[in-house]
Amino acid sequence: MVFTKVIIPFLLQNYLLLIPTVLTIVFFRIQQQQRKKESILQQDTKLSKPKINHETGSGENADKNSDDEDIKPALEEDLPHIPYTFQQIDEQTMIQRSKEFYQEMNKRRTLRFYSSQPVPKQVVENIIRTAGTSPSGAHTEPWTYVIVSNQQLKSEIRNIIENEEYINYTQRMGDRWTTDLKPIKTDWNKPYLTEAPYLVLLFKQTYGLMPDGSRKVHYYNEISCCISAGLFLAAVQQAGLVTLTSTPLNCGPALRSLLNRPENEKLLMLLPLGYPSEDATVPQLERKPLLDFAVFHD
Ligand SMILES: Cc1cc2nc3c(=O)[nH]c(=O)nc-3n(C[C@H](O)[C@H](O)[C@H](O)COP(=O)(O)O)c2cc1C
Repeated sequence: MVFTKVIIPFLLQNYLLLIPTVLTIVFFRIQQQQRKKESILQQDTKLSKPKINHETGSGENADKNSDDEDIKPALEEDLPHIPYTFQQIDEQTMIQRSKEFYQEMNKRRTLRFYSSQPVPKQVVENIIRTAGTSPSGAHTEPWTYVIVSNQQLKSEIRNIIENEEYINYTQRMGDRWTTDLKPIKTDWNKPYLTEAPYLVLLFKQTYGLMPDGSRKVHYYNEISCCISAGLFLAAVQQAGLVTLTSTPLNCGPALRSLLNRPENEKLLMLLPLGYPSEDATVPQLERKPLLDFAVFHD
C-alpha cells in the first residue's frame, strides 16, 4: 500500500532523481565485486606460496622458521670471492685415479664385529675433518659429530640402544621389516657399541643459533648431513678402518640428553669406528652393475 500510494507517486514526481540513484547503486556493486575478487586472489597467492621443509628440502610441512622471523643472512653479505685454485690432471691419470678410488670404495663393508684395538685419535680427527668438508645448504654446516671413547658412556649408550632395539624388533618393526633383516642377521644385541674404540654420533642441527639467541635457517640440513656422512664413510675406508651406518630407532631423545646436546640437534646416525674383530664376517652381498642404476644420455 505504502509503495503504490507513496513511493511510486513520489518517484514519478521526482523521476529525475532516479537516474543518479541507480547509477550510484551500480557503481558501488561493481566496486564491491572487484574487492571480493582481489581478496580471493590474495588468498590464493598466500596458499600457493611454496612452503619448504628445511630439514629434508621437501615442499611440504613448512617448519616454524620460515616466514615471520627476523631474517639473518647465513653468511656476511659482502663475502669476498677469491680465485679458485685448480690443478688439472691428464686424462690417463684421471682414469687411473677414479678407477683406484672406486676399487677401494668397493671394498667398503658395513661391519658389525669390532676389535677393541685402539685407533690413533689423530686419525679420527682427520676422518671427522673430512666429513666436515661436505657441501651444505647455504654453507650452514648443520652437523655435530660427537665422538665417544669413554667406556662408561659407551655402556650407557649400549643400554639405551639395546633396550629400545628390543622393543623395535619385537613390537615396532613388524614382520616385513624383521624378515628383510633376517639375511643380514641383525638383532637387538649390539656388542659392538662397547667393543669398538669409538662411537661417532652424527646429529643434524635442525636450525642454527646465532650469538644473539636468534635462529638461523639450516636449509636442507638432513641432506647436508647425509652427504657429510658419505664423506665420513669414504674417509674411514681410506684410513683402513671400518664402520657401521646405523640409525637407532627411537633412541634419539635419550642419547641427545645423555650427551648433553641442545634442542636444535637431532640424532641422525650412530657410526662405530675401529678395526674389525679377527673373526668378523659380513653378509655375502652383490652390488648392482653400473647400468642397473645409471642412465646415460649421450
Ligand atoms: C640409512 C641406513 C641405515 C642403516 N641402519 C642399520 C642399522 O640400524 N643396523 C645395521 O646393522 N645396519 C644398518 N645399515 C647398514 C645396511 O644394512 C648395509 O649398508 C647394507 O646391508 C649393505 O651392506 P654394505 O654396507 O656392507 O654394502 C644401514 C644403512 C643405511 C644406509
